[in-house]
Amino acid sequence: MVRGKNILLGVSGGIAVYKACALASKLTQKGANVKVMMTENATKFVSALTFQALSRNPVYVDTFDEKDPEKIAHIDIADWADIAIIAPATANIIGKLANGIADDMLSTALLATRADSYIAPAMNVHMYAHPAVIENMKQLEAWGYHFIEPGAGYLACGYVGKGRLEEPETIIEVIEQHQQIGQPLQGKKVLISAGPTREIIDPVRFFSNRSSGKMGFRLAETAAELGAEVTVIAGPTDVKVNNSNVNRIDVISAEEMYKAMHEAFPAADIVIKAAAVADYRPKQVHKGKMKKQAGDLTLEMERTKDILLSLGEQKENQFLVGFAAETDNVIEYGRKKLEKKNLDAIVINNVAAEGAGFAGDTNIVTYLNRSDQSEEIPLATKNEIAKKLWQFIIRDMKDERN
Ligand code: PMT
Repeated sequence: MVRGKNILLGVSGGIAVYKACALASKLTQKGANVKVMMTENATKFVSALTFQALSRNPVYVDTFDEKDPEKIAHIDIADWADIAIIAPATANIIGKLANGIADDMLSTALLATRADSYIAPAMNVHMYAHPAVIENMKQLEAWGYHFIEPGAGYLACGYVGKGRLEEPETIIEVIEQHQQIGQPLQGKKVLISAGPTREIIDPVRFFSNRSSGKMGFRLAETAAELGAEVTVIAGPTDVKVNNSNVNRIDVISAEEMYKAMHEAFPAADIVIKAAAVADYRPKQVHKGKMKKQAGDLTLEMERTKDILLSLGEQKENQFLVGFAAETDNVIEYGRKKLEKKNLDAIVINNVAAEGAGFAGDTNIVTYLNRSDQSEEIPLATKNEIAKKLWQFIIRDMKDERN
């Protein structure tokens, strides 16, 4: 997939520059045309000559070192590139790009290019977890930059943790897969529910659950990256959707979510219900704050409508995916939900497992389709899980059409 592509490899200054040499070499061996742009700091780790020999092209460092009077080098290369890869990407280059700062050859070319851009960060574990870096990465993701997350392990600074530049082979694999997938959801309308619902008792109290919306939001962002027109119906949560192309509709209660989902359902091609909807709500909503009384309190609860069940009954051509939050016999209960609610697939999470389920950034899931084919996705970030789930959904949609 990279054969014949024009690749701008941006190298910023960190110890992982040595891995970028292997990346330049492997890309060239695969038939890509590679032009390397280095920051001044990167040249302190490895000389430009090394990259020149590996890429068989001149290396660019200084914006004002213009060799050809016919061209302005940083714009020429920005226009030439089909793909831009920044590896290693330091906190500094990520910060510059997120804030529109163009003060050297690489940052200027990166702002000027319209190429598909991939960022492979590498830095100290605490830098990677700093809110400024996290916010900058979220901003870039929202603008359509693709991140290749660093691996965890021993770091050159002596710490052990996340921050190690992903291996060159994996970087190429991720890019090839992404380029191959392209935008398979172009022209599709995707509807996703995410987050908890809130069932009101009185003006100051409610029943809810620990869902943050992260799983549903990561699915929505990935769908938008894959070219879909995405609407997400979100229960109350402070978590943000990091993609400005996703249309977000906020609701509070299960009843509001029911209405919003049913309104959007007829036009949707793919519907995913990742929300944790309350099964019960107080039978009576008190207008004023309930007063304390002596003794225990019993609240009468009534069932909410099962949104997914009702969508399954009305389903025409939609590909309908449910989630199941289980704590035991997870696959068996998940399979039963798939059948009962007339789903095309179900994503089962064992919410009792460490690192899985509500609120955190990671999950562990099993994807099960209606042919009883199952795919286990071990512990991974919700972002990575969303990407894998879309691969399975796209595969199964094709299979159902054939
Ligand atoms: O939001 P996060 O913090 O990232 O957490 C993610 C998650 C754990 C909430 C998510 O991965 C998940 O499992 N969501 C479904 C939770 C749930 O309500 O599961 P359930 O087994 O109770 O419901 C099964 C399915 O029926 C779900 O698709 C649910 O949206 C749907 N349902 C349930 C009740 C109801 N009244 N209406 C529904 O549509």
